[in-house]
Amino acid sequence: MSATIIDGKAFAERLRGRVAAHVTRLKDGHGLTPGLAVVLVGEDPASQVYVRNKGKQTQETGMASFEHKLPADTTEADLLALIARLNAAPAVHGILVQLPLPAHLNAELVINAIDPAKDVDGFHISNVGLLGTGQKAMVPCTPLGCLMLLRDHLGSLSGLEAVVVGRSNIVGKPMAQLLLGESCTVTIAHSRTRTIEAVCRRADILVAAVGRPEMITGDWIKPGATVIDVGINRVERDGKMRLVGDVDFASAVGVAGAITPVPGGVGPMTIACLLANTVTAACRAHG
Ligand code: GUN
Repeated sequence: MSATIIDGKAFAERLRGRVAAHVTRLKDGHGLTPGLAVVLVGEDPASQVYVRNKGKQTQETGMASFEHKLPADTTEADLLALIARLNAAPAVHGILVQLPLPAHLNAELVINAIDPAKDVDGFHISNVGLLGTGQKAMVPCTPLGCLMLLRDHLGSLSGLEAVVVGRSNIVGKPMAQLLLGESCTVTIAHSRTRTIEAVCRRADILVAAVGRPEMITGDWIKPGATVIDVGINRVERDGKMRLVGDVDFASAVGVAGAITPVPGGVGPMTIACLLANTVTAACRAHG
């Protein structure tokens, strides 16, 4: 038996369609145009691609996009001054500071300077605390996208055994909080976990977010499990650069019940959820 392929690209397209329809209603009915400001410091090529895609998709859904590109040697004071201006700008409902920041800038300080109500990444300490205590929060986009795919595929997640591989603040930890909120039994596994294969084999839901190409092979997976692969790793194969996940798709697809491919799985969900979070922030700002 071969696993069902979870089509994140198609799901993200439908989500963007719903976001665009919501934006039209807000514009026509309330004169409200949701706006997203994206701040990029420096010239990291991967970040430039992400920021360009975010701006493009923001405009395609009818929202206002504000791009702020700052030189790599921008001072912390200048970046904080920009964030203060964006916090105060009525046309800006969401603020995203692209990570990683250059090493001389304190990312925690910068993220925590964003108005939590405009923190569409869900990285501000207030949103982290709200999510952790089950209160209404801005939820980080990648884990939110994973949860949407899981709910769409499985319906109720209640009582299922979930294993999240990876403990990052951006994906692993908020993913675990979201799954706990769905009444899963949740384990976070990481580089120091002993018998990690056996821990993964317990999982009805296995979320891989470690950033190590094809680390999780078919023999780590419980037959019939739902596998969500967050990894986007560039590797060279047969002289060509390819994108692969944290899961070895070729061996996993014969064991899992369902699996997200790379590319075309979780990746497209992240920006779609960012757009959805921006609309949510705009609605909350206008009561
Ligand atoms: N860099 C990689 N992923 C992300 C993300 O989700 N948000 C931000 N701000 N930066 C990132």
